[in-house]
Amino acid sequence: MKMGYNQLIVSLLLLFPLFVDLSNSQASPDLCLPHDKNVLLGVKKALGNPSSLSSWDPNTDCAGWNGIRCNIQGHVVTVIIEDAEDIHGPIPPSLDQLPSITTLYFNRIPNLSGPIPSYIGKLTNLTEFSISGTNVGGPIPEFLGQLTNLNQLDLSSNKFTGSVPNSFGQLKSLTNLDLSSNLLTGPIPDVLAQLTNIQLLTLSSNKFSGQIPDFIPKKLKNLVVIQLNFNSLSGSIPVSLGLMPKIQTIALAGNQFKGLVPKSLARGNLNFLYLSQNKLTGDASFLFEKGNTNILILEVGDNLLKFDFTNVDLAPSLSRMNISHNMIYGSLPKGFGRLTPDSIDVSYNQLCGPIPNGRRFKRVDPVIFAHNKCLCGGPFPGCK
Ligand SMILES: *[C@@H]1O[C@H](CO)[C@@H](O)[C@H](O)[C@H]1NC(C)=O
Ligand SMILES: *[C@@H]1O[C@H](CO)[C@@H](O)[C@H](O)[C@H]1NC(C)=O
Ligand SMILES: *[C@@H]1O[C@H](CO)[C@@H](O)[C@H](O)[C@H]1NC(C)=O
Repeated sequence: MKMGYNQLIVSLLLLFPLFVDLSNSQASPDLCLPHDKNVLLGVKKALGNPSSLSSWDPNTDCAGWNGIRCNIQGHVVTVIIEDAEDIHGPIPPSLDQLPSITTLYFNRIPNLSGPIPSYIGKLTNLTEFSISGTNVGGPIPEFLGQLTNLNQLDLSSNKFTGSVPNSFGQLKSLTNLDLSSNLLTGPIPDVLAQLTNIQLLTLSSNKFSGQIPDFIPKKLKNLVVIQLNFNSLSGSIPVSLGLMPKIQTIALAGNQFKGLVPKSLARGNLNFLYLSQNKLTGDASFLFEKGNTNILILEVGDNLLKFDFTNVDLAPSLSRMNISHNMIYGSLPKGFGRLTPDSIDVSYNQLCGPIPNGRRFKRVDPVIFAHNKCLCGGPFPGCK
């Protein structure tokens, strides 16, 4: 291979740091600026020098500490503090002295408490911010809306109360918002309509009430995953939810949705559909039909669904289904026999007749078939 003059120069430049290292000394030069290292040591001290941060050793370069990354200029850009049961008290002060931070996580620190300090609003270079699995709570502060470069915001599994601040409308770059497992109340906030780049929206396990707002299917065209399960939402499931162009996962379990399941949910893109523990009625057999759907996991247990299952031609994509606690009648469809026993639950319905491919199900726990009208074969006595 012929090497041009420019390429030669580039190669020499790339190799140069290596020569410096070899000629200089055994110890590699610090990659992390002394100022930034001192800020982190102050953070460690404020947290009570916990053993979970023992790698934050003043005698070593902070670029090598657990959860810390620096950029080429030596500024700290990543601070990840995780899985630390020995940290007690509030979020430490002074991280605003590291304005280059792009990634900041406080995850699974059960005794981290208090509010989010207001200096966080100054860390405007943040692209990923997470406080998850802590005891931090109170209202979600308005100043988080200043973090306009955020792509990912995870405030799941904390003690946040109230609603979502209006300032969240400024988070135009957000693709992933997780507010699950808090104590949030009121309707699904209108301000979310402005997050038009959002792909993953998770509001599960809060106390949100009211209906699914129109703006979700109308404005949030990039949604891939929407998880609203285990709230107090009501009304019917909007038809347009299934028509969202990129949607793959819809999780609405554990609410008070009623009425018919819209036909639009049996669309090609949808892979995961969770509708259990609602008050849905009528015929949902189309969700199972071959040719209709690419659904892999279908959970509709604990509703008021009522239809004949006998002649449903089960979609080959289906790998898990839970239809328990409904009023589904007829017999189990033929294609049922290919499902694996640990991926089904048809208990508490009105089903009757032979369990298809019964020999495969001979040794399974009969609870997955229990409380039907007259199923036979499989774990039960043979059919007459
Ligand atoms: C923040 O990010 C911008 C764009 O990447 C960069 O030019 C700037 O230097 C960063 N600010 C700090 C304080 O590092
Ligand atoms: C810290 O959190 C753990 C786990 O949640 C809990 O059992 C423990 O009591 C807490 N300790 C203090 C001092 O709060
Ligand atoms: C099926 O769904 C019902 C209702 O949500 C639930 O109680 C049951 O545990 C589920 N079965 C399995 C095997 O997960």
